[in-house]
Amino acid sequence: MKEPVSVSLEGVVKAFAGAHAVNDVSLEVRTGEFLTLLGPSGCGKTTLLNLIAGFLEPDRGEIFIGGEPVTHVPPYLRSIGMVFQNYALFPHMSVTDNVGFGLKMRKVPAAEIRQRVADSLDMVRLPGMGDRSPRQLSGGQQQRVALARALVINPKVLLLDEPFSAIDKNLRSEMQFELKQIQKRIGITTVFVTHDQSEALSLSDRIAVMSHGKIEQLSEPAQLYRNPASSFVASFIGDINRLPCKVVGREGAEAVLVAGGLGIRLPAARAGGLAQGSGGLLFIRPDDLVLVSPGDARANLGVGTVDTHVYQGTHVDVYVRFKEGGALRVRHGGFEAIEQFPVGSAIGLCANLDKAFVFPME
Ligand SMILES: Nc1ncnc2c1ncn2[C@@H]1O[C@H](COP(=O)(O)OP(=O)(O)OP(=O)(O)O)[C@@H](O)[C@H]1O
Ligand SMILES: [Mg+2]
Repeated sequence: MKEPVSVSLEGVVKAFAGAHAVNDVSLEVRTGEFLTLLGPSGCGKTTLLNLIAGFLEPDRGEIFIGGEPVTHVPPYLRSIGMVFQNYALFPHMSVTDNVGFGLKMRKVPAAEIRQRVADSLDMVRLPGMGDRSPRQLSGGQQQRVALARALVINPKVLLLDEPFSAIDKNLRSEMQFELKQIQKRIGITTVFVTHDQSEALSLSDRIAVMSHGKIEQLSEPAQLYRNPASSFVASFIGDINRLPCKVVGREGAEAVLVAGGLGIRLPAARAGGLAQGSGGLLFIRPDDLVLVSPGDARANLGVGTVDTHVYQGTHVDVYVRFKEGGALRVRHGGFEAIEQFPVGSAIGLCANLDKAFVFPME
């Protein structure tokens, strides 16, 4: 039977020279899941991954892998496979020796090493490349070797630290897709670090958004996007408009706000528990806004002026300026928006306020 939790952290703290890189993190990674640590540079992602791997010891807290306490166990006894950002292959060894290194250290018989290395290279689609040296491989191929080397030991947990950040965009999406397929096929518990939100949203079963050494929110990708727990998460995940607003009252299940000089109602649960009279920010995603004619009764955010169009390939972003100042970005599915809503024209703004949310001003 599978253990429901594969990696568990309890109150883990790690400081460098008095500054908290990881600040009281508790986390449970489920068996077989693909969990991503996502956050801006310096928020503690690599430190947290290195704590799980055992390259660092926490100042406080406990770490468990497969239910066993490993807080003071060295990396090579933790049953983890790790892939680093900069490949970290041994330059003087062939691909075969690089991939087989961990097995050799574990004194696996030579014939079995040969077979497992060949199987791993097949899995990452590098068959027949075993005799090359890392220098004779492209960046993408080197990262496949690093993945094969991490997986060949059949670890309980696969850890990856920004593995695709040095790879160009087209190859990156191909490698993301392959990683996800391999991960699902062998069902390995995976902790993946990135600062790239689209990479996180497309690959992950769950995402832990980090800020200043803490986990701000741990949710499924769609939840993070639709129901962010804080203004940090709302701003970090996906494009979003922010309008200063003030809560002026509550009527039944609705909160009444003033934003951009307009009275607005939204479900009270989405008003972030803001007290009456307090100021905040109203968050609306560009895809939750529709442009309508200025007199249209649906224009619940009033009328503005078209400022610019930004053609984005699959859609057009229309920037609309408010009389009261401030601009909103509206995502329009078709190219016709450029002709239909010319720059300088007056336009009505209709927001799906059921999907908007308010957080206190930071
Ligand atoms: N060995 C170290 N000595 C001192 N400070 C460190 C050390 N490692 C990390 N830090 C500090 O801890 C904080 C978190 O660093 P970490 O490398 O975990 O961030 P990160 O989220 O991985 O960032 P990035 O996206 O840039 O890789 C940073 O402020 C960093 O300067
Ligand atoms: Mg890092």
